[in-house]
Amino acid sequence: MQTLIAIAYIVSACLFIVGLKMLGKAHTAVKGNLVSAVGMLVAVVATLFLKDIVSYQWIVVGVVVGGVIGAVSAARVPMTSMPEFVALFNGTGGLASLLVAWAEYHNRRGELGALGADGYISVIAIYLAMLIGGVTFTGSLIAYAKLAERLDGKPVLFAGQQLVNGAMVLLSLGCGVLFVLQPDSPLAFTLFCVATVVSFIFGVLATIPIGGADMPVVISLLNSYSGLAACAAGFVIGNTVLIVSGSLVGASGIILTQIMCKAMNRSLSNVLFSGFGSASSGGDGGGAGEQGEVRPVSAEDAYYILEAASSVVFVPGYGMAVAQAQHAVRELGELLEANGAEVKYAVHPVAGRMPGHMNVLLAEANVPYEQLVEMDDINPIMSTIDVAIVIGANDVVNPAAREDETSSIYGMPIINVDHARTVFVLKRSMSAGFAGIQNPLFFKENTRMLFGDAKASITNLLNEFKGA
Ligand code: TAP
Repeated sequence: MQTLIAIAYIVSACLFIVGLKMLGKAHTAVKGNLVSAVGMLVAVVATLFLKDIVSYQWIVVGVVVGGVIGAVSAARVPMTSMPEFVALFNGTGGLASLLVAWAEYHNRRGELGALGADGYISVIAIYLAMLIGGVTFTGSLIAYAKLAERLDGKPVLFAGQQLVNGAMVLLSLGCGVLFVLQPDSPLAFTLFCVATVVSFIFGVLATIPIGGADMPVVISLLNSYSGLAACAAGFVIGNTVLIVSGSLVGASGIILTQIMCKAMNRSLSNVLFSGFGSASSGGDGGGAGEQGEVRPVSAEDAYYILEAASSVVFVPGYGMAVAQAQHAVRELGELLEANGAEVKYAVHPVAGRMPGHMNVLLAEANVPYEQLVEMDDINPIMSTIDVAIVIGANDVVNPAAREDETSSIYGMPIINVDHARTVFVLKRSMSAGFAGIQNPLFFKENTRMLFGDAKASITNLLNEFKGA
C-alpha cells in the first residue's frame, strides 16, 4: 500500500506541475485548473489510505463542513471581490499549517530531543510551520479586511514601527534557537506559545503599514508564505506531496509578486514599507492638476470617428471592472468588426486590481483569445492604430511614466495609447487613478474624453451603431 501511495503522490505532483504550466496561457488556463484539481483529488484520496489516519469520522465532518463553506462562498463571491477571497484562502492555509505543527509538537513532545539529526529537522520544521503559518494567518486577515473595506485601507504608520518589527523578528529568532536546542524542556512549550503569539502580532504589524490598493501584491506574497508554511508542515509530518505542493505555491507566489512589482516599476520593499497608495483611487483629481485643454466628446461624435476607423484597440482598466462594462465592450468590438475594422484588446499586466483582472473579465464576456494582445506587442504598432478606446484605465496609459522623470510612476511600462491617431478615454471625471496623479494623456491633442460611467458610454455608442 505504501508504494501505491508513493506512486499516487508522484502522479499528483506531476499533475500540479502540468496544471501550473497550463495556467500560464489563457486558452489552457481553465483546463490547467482542472488538471491541478484532479492532482489534489489524487493526493487527498491517497492520503486517506495512510496507516496514520486515526479517525475517518472527523475527516468526514471536516470535509463536509469545509466543503459546504468553500462551495457556498466561492459561488457567491463576485469576481471583483476575488482578491480578498484569495486572502482568506491563504489565511486559512497558514492557520492549517500552524495547527499541524502544533498537533505534531504536542504528539511528539518528549521524544524529539533523542532523535538526533532527524529530531532537529522535525523541530525546525515544526517551528517554521508555526511561525510562517501564524504570520500568514493574521497578515491575510488584515489584507482581507482592508480589501473588503472592513478596515480603513490607508497605511497605518507610527513612530518606531520598524524598531518594533525588528524586535518581533529578533524575539521569534531567539525563541526559535532556544526551542530547537531543547524541544523537550518545560521551557520549550512556553517558548513555542510566545512565538505563536509573536507570529500573530507580526502578521498584523507587517500588513497594516501597507495601503489597501497595494494589497493584491501583498496577497500574492502571503500566498507564497502559505506555500512555504505548507511545505514546512510537509516536513513535519513527512508527507512528500505536501512538500512538493507547498514549494510550488511558495515559488509561484513569489514569481507573481515579482511580476507585479516589475510591471509597476516598484521594488518589493517599496510596496511593503513606503505606505504607497494612501491617496488611492477614485479621488480628488490628485497630482499635478489641470495640464491644458480637455476636449470632451459626445457618443454621437465618437461614433462618426469609430465608424470610419479601420483599426481599433480597446485598453481596459480598473474602471471597466467597476462599471462591469465587459459585455458591452465585446458587443461594440463585434459591431466594429462587422463594420470592417480590425479589433484588438490590449491588456496591461497590472491593469485593474488583481493579477489577470482584465483577462478574467474579457474571458467572461467571451472576447476571443486571439484578439488579446500584450503591451509589448501592441506598443510597436500603436502609431498605425486609428482609434484607441481607453475604458476606465488611467495609470497604465499615463505618458508621464514615460516622459516625466519627476512622476511617481516614472519608469513604469505603459500602453502607449497616445501614439494612436485618436484616443477616446472613457471615465466619469478627471479624477486620478490608483497612483493618485494626474494624467497628461487627457490633455493631448489627439485625446477626446467621453465622460460618464464606462458601461453607459459604451451602451450609448452601441445605440449609435444600431440606430445608424
Ligand atoms: P487606475 O489607474 O486605478 O484608474 C482607474 C480609473 O477608472 C479611474 O481613473 C476612474 O476614473 C475610472 N473609473 C472608475 N469607475 C469607473 C466607471 N464606473 N466608469 C468609468 N471609469 C471608471 O486603473 P488602471 O489604469 O487599471 O491601473 C491599475 C493601477 O492599479 C496601477 O497603478 C497599478 O499599479 C495598480 N495595481 C494593480 C494591481 C494589479 S495586480 N492589477 C495590483 C496593485 C496595484 P473616474 O473616477 O474619473 O471614473
